[in-house]
Amino acid sequence: MKLFSENIEDLRTLYIASLKKALDMEQKITKALPTMIEESTDPQLAKAFRNHLTETQGHVTKVQNLLREASGDVSTGTCKAIAALISEAEDNIKDAGDPSIRDITLIASAQQVEHHEMAIYGTLRNWAELLGQDEAADILEGILDEEKNADETLSNISDTVNTTAASSGVYTTAH
Ligand SMILES: [Fe+2]
Ligand SMILES: [Fe+2]
Repeated sequence: MKLFSENIEDLRTLYIASLKKALDMEQKITKALPTMIEESTDPQLAKAFRNHLTETQGHVTKVQNLLREASGDVSTGTCKAIAALISEAEDNIKDAGDPSIRDITLIASAQQVEHHEMAIYGTLRNWAELLGQDEAADILEGILDEEKNADETLSNISDTVNTTAASSGVYTTAH
């Protein structure tokens, strides 16, 4: 895509605003993950959430550094989408009775969050490339890879958790 200088200024403004929203998103996820860890009954799931909490804390620092370099201002924006996804996850946890159903709902909610993050970082990486910010694009690509890995780990765990829930009869007794 060819951009003219005025387009570049607009894109830079959009890029910085989106980084600020990404910072809010990561900070909110950092606050939500300890509850997800606490509510998990499957040890593998709790471990995956703990690992991703450490990665998420790293994402906060990386996005702050990107913002510092891009604008010198590390204040946060507001990511309305993540607030809605977290609030929905909290409702689902409340609605889930059986522990294996709770694990299933935790995985489903967490995967929605990971997919949202993947969309955000895929876009931010592309915009950094368009702006000629190759180092920033590499850092954003690195974050994107961690979100993809977290999603894949959750998919693998969901195979075990779904099998456990099915064999314990929770699917059939619910009806
Ligand atoms: Fe993240
Ligand atoms: Fe994530």
